[in-house]
Amino acid sequence: MAMINRSWAEVDLDALRENLAWIRDRVGPEVKVLTVVKADAYGHGLKQIAALLMQSGTDIFGVANLAEARAIRSVGQGWPILMLGACLPGEVADAVHDEVMPTISTAEEAQWFSRAAMRQRRLVRVHLAVDTGMGRLGVTPAGAADLADQIRSLPGVKLEGMFTHFASSEDDADFTQTQAEQFQQALAAVRVRGIQVPLVHASNSGALLHERDVLFNVVRPGLLVYGIVPPGTRRSTLTLPDRLRPALSWKTSVSLVKTVPRGVSLSYGRTYTTTRSLRVATATVGYGDGYSRMGSNRAQVLIGGNRCRILGRVTMDQMLVDVSRSPEAKPGDEAVLIGQQGDDAITVTELATWFGTIPWEVLTGINHRVPRIYRGGTAA
Ligand SMILES: Cc1ncc(COP(=O)(O)O)c(C=O)c1O
Repeated sequence: MAMINRSWAEVDLDALRENLAWIRDRVGPEVKVLTVVKADAYGHGLKQIAALLMQSGTDIFGVANLAEARAIRSVGQGWPILMLGACLPGEVADAVHDEVMPTISTAEEAQWFSRAAMRQRRLVRVHLAVDTGMGRLGVTPAGAADLADQIRSLPGVKLEGMFTHFASSEDDADFTQTQAEQFQQALAAVRVRGIQVPLVHASNSGALLHERDVLFNVVRPGLLVYGIVPPGTRRSTLTLPDRLRPALSWKTSVSLVKTVPRGVSLSYGRTYTTTRSLRVATATVGYGDGYSRMGSNRAQVLIGGNRCRILGRVTMDQMLVDVSRSPEAKPGDEAVLIGQQGDDAITVTELATWFGTIPWEVLTGINHRVPRIYRGGTAA
């Protein structure tokens, strides 16, 4: 029995490869690329994306938890993996065992890792986080050198890296600059004490695009790897070649089309009433797939190459679309939620605007009910 998908995401692995190649060209051969693959590789499917990035020359992976690190290890051994968030006390032993590099903000965390490393007779490579304005993780810039010193004195622990995270690199050039300078000073203070820091990083996608110089010797992009320019008020001075393109498209099907006369209310809560006779299609996607209810009466989809507006509330598994501009629409037709159809395209950033959110949340919100279908990606 053939299984027909009601909503699915197509992931173009060649696009991902080319996006990574573009990032590599941008940063040059001396700089390492740490690709951020947390949250199921931004919804693209962690194992397939990790395999592709391994073939395409990523240097380091960035994850949010140990399960993600293990998924990467199951695809290929040997790649360095950085846990971008703080480790929970109960995760420390496993992180050491799995050779995941933890992020350290305090001397206490460093001691946990030292003890676990000694117990397991292993060496744990840690990255020291410096808080220059994000407020989420990290030691203060003034405290960085002391913490680095403490890490140096602990057995079983090696200071492998040091990083900070920008709070507003897409929007605020001045604040980003201030953060970079504070981090630079913290790094200098560590080095003055004769402590080597092999890997130094700060640049997320926004900084990679908007800072003229490539900062430090590792970059840490997420969104750009998936071919999406982070929305914001700063304008990139770089020319973004065609090579950088979104890897993911999200599609669904039309299941029913009918003519609805004037004066009829549609969907839950009766938030939309036809003001004239309309061709209305039912599409097989809803908030149960991760398509936000915020798209009700607002978002658009592509059907028959035309933009068609959602009518009334998005429901769990279905939504209604005005196909008056594509009157030939029929059951089984493809509807595009994110991606290209004919000459038009709906970007994830546009969809995020309709949903009142950001592309990161839309991508990671496409849930497990939506199968990911992979195209391209044969070994380079
Ligand atoms: C610490 C850290 N570095 C880098 C990134 C990648 O950010 P972006 O997707 O904006 O490139 C993230 C993503 O949230 C992050 O948390």
